Amino acid sequence: MTADLSIAHPSLHADSGFWNDPYPFYDKLRSIDPVYKGTVLKYPGWYVTGYKEAAAILKDIRFKNRIPLPEASTKYQNLSHIQHDMLLFKNQSDHKRMRMLIGKEFTAKTAESLRPCIKETVHDLLDQVQIKKTADLVSEFAFPLASLIIAEILGVPKEERYQFRQWTADVIQAIDLTRSRKTLVRASDTAGRLTSYFRDLIHKREAHPQQDLISRFIMEEQLSKEEVLATCILLVIAGHETTVNLISNGVFTLLKHPEQLSALRENPSLIETAVEECLRYDSPAQLTARTASEDCEINGKTIKKGEQVYILLGAANRDPSIFDQPHKMDIQRKPNPHLAFGRNAHFCIGSSLARIEAQIAILTLFERMPKLRLAAHRLEYRKLIGFRSLKELPVVIG
Ligand code: HEM
Repeated sequence: MTADLSIAHPSLHADSGFWNDPYPFYDKLRSIDPVYKGTVLKYPGWYVTGYKEAAAILKDIRFKNRIPLPEASTKYQNLSHIQHDMLLFKNQSDHKRMRMLIGKEFTAKTAESLRPCIKETVHDLLDQVQIKKTADLVSEFAFPLASLIIAEILGVPKEERYQFRQWTADVIQAIDLTRSRKTLVRASDTAGRLTSYFRDLIHKREAHPQQDLISRFIMEEQLSKEEVLATCILLVIAGHETTVNLISNGVFTLLKHPEQLSALRENPSLIETAVEECLRYDSPAQLTARTASEDCEINGKTIKKGEQVYILLGAANRDPSIFDQPHKMDIQRKPNPHLAFGRNAHFCIGSSLARIEAQIAILTLFERMPKLRLAAHRLEYRKLIGFRSLKELPVVIG
């Protein structure tokens, strides 16, 4: 057991297996209370594992979106600065305005128009993987795919995108409950680098506009310069982290469920429901946080003004009151109203893009590599509570 992963309750201790499989712990938590008040790591708050309660809070505008950073410290200045102008942490009218302007660039139709570019990128990457005997599908496939596509959309030069892997990992670490002062300082330093990188790129695009998203954002009168900057950083982080997890967790889960994989191989048109099930079964983003702006009653409990709420999306997606046999992976599951992309006002803007990328990546991989198998059966996840992120996905090409 990791002492620091206990919630203040005698029967609630996550053991060291938590990082590989957090779901038994979430079941235990939900069975005690789907809206549980306690402290995880050093963070006191309400931990929500019930689906109905999670959905109710996501819908309730009295709960505001923000990352609570340690206050009054100049050490985290860069981090709080970029957070201040990010869509994800805006509320009400500012959120509506930014969401409308950014959202029109991420419609289902726009994502659909990227299909040929995604297909070509998937094939190029698999050409490299296929000539090898073994490969790590996180670093050699899922990550470069997500990275190349978001770089293409934004207009980040391909040769400059390599630095984003570490930068994204640093920022993700800082918004996770597992963060330490050290990771926060490092992330704030990284936020400074991201800021100067994008300030530079924005200057270049101001001087010489291109056919890319950054140039279009710059021309948008209703977006301030700081908002353009924060949006580029948010998109680059969102585009690099979660889609990688969806593809790699999805491939790993299918390889561990050969009967499901055979059904998909026999009937590739199941790819859409299969990706929805991957999103539910091992949700790439596992947690989102809110702060109550006034006293609110949820499930008979009063969440007081200023209290922090942690919505465990991955736990809500395994709630037996909504999903029949929630721990069963079923690529034909219907309906599948998972909360993997959140819900309501902050519902993921990149959901169509992520879905198409994952559908093409997973299907093409299994079509091109019929003998693909895992090179190890127990894989390690990064020690994050907010994200389900494999460190590596070693496979034998066969
Ligand atoms: C499998 C991939 C993805 C997952 C699981 C995911 C998950 C999420 C979730 C859960 C939220 C809501 C957070 C909240 O309510 O606090 C969110 C919001 C957001 N996502 Fe994604 N995301 C994914 C891919 C992407 C991609 C590819 C992009 C951009 C290219 C993106 C951009 C955003 C943005 C900008 C928001 C903020 C929306 C707002 O606040 O109005 N996401 N995402």
